[in-house]
Amino acid sequence: MGPLQIGEYNQEMGYVAEEGPAGQIGYHSPYADRGGNAPQNQAPASADAGVAKTEEQAPPVEAAPAVNYELITDAGRLENGAKVFAANCLACHGAKGEGGIGPNFTDNYWIHGDGSFNPIVKVIQDGVPIKGMIAWKPVLKESDLLDVASYVYGLRGTNPPNQKEPQGIEYGE
Ligand code: HEC
Repeated sequence: MGPLQIGEYNQEMGYVAEEGPAGQIGYHSPYADRGGNAPQNQAPASADAGVAKTEEQAPPVEAAPAVNYELITDAGRLENGAKVFAANCLACHGAKGEGGIGPNFTDNYWIHGDGSFNPIVKVIQDGVPIKGMIAWKPVLKESDLLDVASYVYGLRGTNPPNQKEPQGIEYGE
């Protein structure tokens, strides 16, 4: 094809011509900008986007985890958990875990599991992709995942303002 046809070709392919801040014209693939960005106030594409997943195929989060993880109590690691939370979870679960797009972590109500540590680890690992909660296992290293899970576990009863209404089933104090 001749050079004059390239613009037309790009248009047909769904590429969008955009004028950059310096006036230069760039072509943006509609598929660019996947991943790499921290999720904002919107459901991120599932970690394994492209693999069609039906509700039936999603593994049941309630299933007993294969590994038994120990709750982290070390202050330095919990501090790291708070940082991981602020970087990755705050947009949906609130700065203090009060909830927003995602559930409140400071009440005694849980949708997945009974609020004990291992089901919390499991739902963070596997996510709930159909609800917009991505699987964090491919994203976070295991120590960071356990740190943030332990931080979330410890948010119960902290009673921050603007709590989201309870979701799920109430479990003991
Ligand atoms: C894009 C929004 C979003 C982000 C970011 C997000 N979550 Fe979620 N999360 C959700 C939603 C929505 C649910 C509820 C899923 C459902 O309804 O089954 C959820 C559920 C959970 C649950 C289960 C709560 C329950 O009641 O059983 C845990 C634990 C959790 N998220 C932890 C995290 C952690 C830790 C991070 C950061 C590493 C994170 N989430 C990031 C949206 C998000």
